[in-house]
Amino acid sequence: MAKKKNSFSGSLGFVLAAAGSAVGVGNIWRFPYLCAKDGGGLFLLVYLVLVVTFGFVLLTTDVAIGRRTKENALRAFGTLHPKWKFVGYLTFLVPMLIMTYYSVIGGWITKYFFEYLTTSGRDVAEDGYFTSFITEKNAPLIFTGIFLALTIWVVYRGVEKGIEKFSCFIMPGLILLVIGIAIFSLTLSYTDADGTVRTGIQGFLVYVRPDFTGLTVKGFLEVLLDAMSQLFFSLSVSMGIMVTYGSYVKDEIDLNKATNQIEFFDTGVALLSGMMIIPAVFVFLGRDGMASGPSLTFISLPKVFQAMGGAGHIVGLAFFLMLGFAALTSCVSVMETLVANCMEVFGKTRKQMCVMVGSYSLLTAVLICLGYNVLYFELKLPNGSTGQLLDVMDYISNSFLMPIISFLTSILIGWVVGPKWIVEEVEKNGEHFSRAGMYSFLIRYIVPAVMLVLFLVSTGFINML
Ligand code: PHE
Repeated sequence: MAKKKNSFSGSLGFVLAAAGSAVGVGNIWRFPYLCAKDGGGLFLLVYLVLVVTFGFVLLTTDVAIGRRTKENALRAFGTLHPKWKFVGYLTFLVPMLIMTYYSVIGGWITKYFFEYLTTSGRDVAEDGYFTSFITEKNAPLIFTGIFLALTIWVVYRGVEKGIEKFSCFIMPGLILLVIGIAIFSLTLSYTDADGTVRTGIQGFLVYVRPDFTGLTVKGFLEVLLDAMSQLFFSLSVSMGIMVTYGSYVKDEIDLNKATNQIEFFDTGVALLSGMMIIPAVFVFLGRDGMASGPSLTFISLPKVFQAMGGAGHIVGLAFFLMLGFAALTSCVSVMETLVANCMEVFGKTRKQMCVMVGSYSLLTAVLICLGYNVLYFELKLPNGSTGQLLDVMDYISNSFLMPIISFLTSILIGWVVGPKWIVEEVEKNGEHFSRAGMYSFLIRYIVPAVMLVLFLVSTGFINML
C-alpha cells in the first residue's frame, strides 16, 4: 500500500489535532445546555456510559480504518469492500454540509470576541442584540469571512506545519482557560432582589446531582437520544474526519492509547465546560436561566458576564477567545477532510484544493448568513423542530446522515469484514487491545440496533418523543 506523504509527527501531535477536532462548540455550548435540560447528573451519567461504550467503538473504528487503509473516507470504504464504496460517498457529504454553517457560527464567535476586546461588553448583553446582529446584512458576512480565512490558512499550511503545530499551541491554552473560568465560576455568589443568595457551589450541585423527579420511561429515552446525538457530534465520528486523521497516523503509534486520550480530552473539556457555565448561569439567572437552550452562549452568557461586574469583561473576553479556538480547530478538521479527499480524487495540489474548497465554503457560508434575512424561511423538520437554512443543514448531517453512516459502518465491520480487521490494526505493534471483546460485541450487535432506532426516531418514522 502506498504510504501517504502527509503524517502527524508523533502520538502527541495526532492526539492534540484529533482532540482539536473533537473539542468544539459542541463541548462548550451544546453539552452544558443539554445537561441543564436533561436533569444534570442524570445526563452526565448516561453520557459517560455512552462515551466508554459507543464513543470508544465509533472512534476506534474510524481511526483504525484510516490508518489501515491509509486512505480518506471516499476511497477507504471501497478498499474495505468494493460494494461498500457508497458509504465513503455518504461520509463525504457530512463535512460538505457541516462546512456550510460551521464557519458562520465561528463568525458569530469572532464578532463577540471583538466586541469584548474593543468595548465593555454592555451592548452584547442587551435584549435582542444577537437577533439584530445575525439578521443584519453585512456584519455576519464580514466576521464569517475572517474566521474562514483563518481556517483556510491553517489547512493550507498542511498537516504537520499547520494543523498539528497549531493544535499543539491552541489546545493547552484552551484547557487552561476552561479550568480557570470553571474555578472562578465556583467562587461566585449573588443576592437576588428578594434576598435569596445563590452560590457557585449550589450551582455545581445542580450540575452533578442526578434529578430523577418525575422521570418517565419516555423522559429517559429522550435523555438517551440527546446524549447519543451529542456524542457523535462531539467526537467528530462517522463523518470521515477521524478516518482522514487516522490515515495520517504512523504505524508505530499505539492506537488504543491514543483513542483513549482523545476521548478523555473531549469528555474532560465537556465536563469542565458544564462546570464553568452551569454554576455561573445558576448564580446570576437562577434555575429559569438554565433552561434557555441553544441561546445560552450568545444571549444568556453575556448577561451573566454583565452581572459579574468588572471581572465579567475579562471573563467574557477569555470565554469567547477559548470558544473561538475550539471552533477553529474543529472547522480546520472539517476543511482538511474536504481538501484531503479532493486532493486524492482530482490528483491536484493542496494549494489548488484549498482555493476550490475555500470558494465552496465561502459561497455556502454566504447563503447560510442570508438565511437569516433575505433567504429567511421556517421549515418544519421531521424530528418536530422548526428551523431555517442552518438548522436544515445541521439536521441532515447530524440527525439523518450520521446515524445511517454509523449503522452501515457497523454492519460492514461487524458482519462483512469482521471486527478482527480492526482489532488486528490496533494490536499491530504487539500492543494489547484490552477491550477487544467488548469492541467486537458492541460493533456487531448493539451499535447497529441502536443506530437504526436513532435514525428512525430522528427522521420521525418512530414517533416516540
Ligand atoms: N466535534 C465538534 C464539536 O464538538 C464539532 C464538529 C462536528 C467538528 C463535525 C467537526 C465536524 O463541536
